[in-house]
Amino acid sequence: MSNGFVVRSLDEIRFWSRIMKEHSLFLKLGFRCEDTQLISEANHFYSTFEAIESRAHTFDAGADPQTIQRFNLEVHTAVSHIWAFKRKVLGLILQCQLPGQNNFPLLVDHTSREAFYFRNRLEQLNAGRLDPLPDAIINENVFFLRIMADHAKFIGHLLDPSERKLVDQARQFSEEFDQLLFQARDIDSMRPQSQTVPLLDQFLDQNRVSVKSLRDFKKTARDLIEACRIKSIIHPLLADHVFREAERFLFIIDMFENTLTGKPAQNVYFD
Ligand SMILES: [Fe+2]
Ligand SMILES: [Fe+2]
Repeated sequence: MSNGFVVRSLDEIRFWSRIMKEHSLFLKLGFRCEDTQLISEANHFYSTFEAIESRAHTFDAGADPQTIQRFNLEVHTAVSHIWAFKRKVLGLILQCQLPGQNNFPLLVDHTSREAFYFRNRLEQLNAGRLDPLPDAIINENVFFLRIMADHAKFIGHLLDPSERKLVDQARQFSEEFDQLLFQARDIDSMRPQSQTVPLLDQFLDQNRVSVKSLRDFKKTARDLIEACRIKSIIHPLLADHVFREAERFLFIIDMFENTLTGKPAQNVYFD
């Protein structure tokens, strides 16, 4: 247990607890007025993750690793619960028990995958077994490329159909990221032989280019939504949320790239 462990844990918790808090809000907004039980469960998760987020900001890099290990465990429990809640909601939607509610099944599944990712990261941190770099590169890209492909689909479906140009751009991003995801899965199945520096480097370069342009598209959409310049049913906070997730992915790609090419960079992130 070291300073790297503390920094890494706090960084993950600060980022993902805010995300979990916002998921609770989005789910709540999609429920019907009569779903009072689900609404109150969502409210409960909102306050849980709000509290976790603010606690994470009270620690700094010098915090006692054992305290952080206990904190990670506590957050892990909360994440397990929100994951189960999301899967329960997905089941209700797919069995048509909530007719007329407004959360896409894929969105609910997507938010549960993000919870699963967060929970897994907390487990890895506490067990002191982060993936070795070549594995981390493939695993993180497979995870995030699918997340990005989903975002493009959500944006395309939540924009007003009359915003034809933007809907078309969103559809193109959806196709582009589906294709990148297939490429990533191919690299994945060719492991470990595919894990050469030139191949991984090219893989990261190619993904970075697309993530940057999707990030810019999301930023534009967010700004247009905030300024009330386009027609959509996208909550302004959702627009910002997906933008931040793209920024996170870019940050991870850059960190991998620096480590792979031996540039002096912090590598508290992956072994
Ligand atoms: Fe999210
Ligand atoms: Fe997401």
